[in-house]
Amino acid sequence: MPRLQLPVRPRRLRRTAALRSMLAETRLAPEQLIQPLFVTDGDDYEPVPSLPGISRIPLRRLAQHCAGLLALGLRGVALFPKTDPALKTPDGREALNPDALLLRATREVKDHVSALCVFNDIALDPYTTHGHDGILNAAGDDVDNDGTVEILAQMAVLNAQAGADFVAPSDMMDGRVAAIRAALDADGQEGTGIMAYSAKYASAFYGPFRDAVGSSRRADAAPISKATYQLDPANRREAAKEVRLDEAEGADILMVKPAGPYLDIIRDTRESTSLPVAAYQVSGEYAQLHAAAERGWLDLRAAREESLLAIRRAGADLILSYFAETRAREG
Ligand code: PBG
Repeated sequence: MPRLQLPVRPRRLRRTAALRSMLAETRLAPEQLIQPLFVTDGDDYEPVPSLPGISRIPLRRLAQHCAGLLALGLRGVALFPKTDPALKTPDGREALNPDALLLRATREVKDHVSALCVFNDIALDPYTTHGHDGILNAAGDDVDNDGTVEILAQMAVLNAQAGADFVAPSDMMDGRVAAIRAALDADGQEGTGIMAYSAKYASAFYGPFRDAVGSSRRADAAPISKATYQLDPANRREAAKEVRLDEAEGADILMVKPAGPYLDIIRDTRESTSLPVAAYQVSGEYAQLHAAAERGWLDLRAAREESLLAIRRAGADLILSYFAETRAREG
């Protein structure tokens, strides 16, 4: 065989495992991962069938569970309550109950594992009978933007008072970041940050999450549409606009969600701001990898790593992922 005369042979740098690991351009450390946690008032762990390996955690076990995450090197959790259906109302008023499950859970974590950073979702969907992120208008055919923002600002203050390090508005109402910032500051909560779900798409990948918090419609009803407030998956410029607005309104961290199908948006966001960028690898992204692995069609560990690295490579500083705990444990 004649040898090719090639001065540049890129494969030289991929020759050994040592070289490959030394030259990896993107790295993933446990402190870059945030574990979403579902909390229940029930007595026992409640496995979520559509999220293999994920259970709702009983409040009395939460502190112990969080101490375990901290020991694994994770530094942040995002808390989501599974609200008792009897407490749900059309106006989601349980969100403003000072004794609501989310607030008790926050106090529990901050009392016992204060080193862990707590990010709390701000939206009404765990509390409303209709499952929307806000209250409905008089006609009942859309979410009332300004009325919802007023409630969310109060909700954010309660979460800050309970000890949340960050509030994370996920509702996609116009003007909510500014209103939340003003309400927090007026209450003396200048130290509480805002991680804004800035580019949150009306995605089909949220299904398992809605099972976990119980915000899905009945099995026989059409899935709920959030298209009047969440972004159209067809749009890229619209995300840039939302990101700009949230930064101008005072967000501390900007988030793109989902992550894997929206790597271009993560990259755009990374290049348009000097703020930290977070990405949420959502429930459906996790569930699809597990489902394929269960059938023997994918190697879960390798697919998990690749999915997370791709999100980092696109420009995310932080990743919210249901894989956080296993990734921290197994590498
Ligand atoms: C609700 C909220 C959702 C998620 C996070 N916060 C669902 C929704 O908008 O319906 C989805 C997260 C996931 O799928 O993992 N405001």
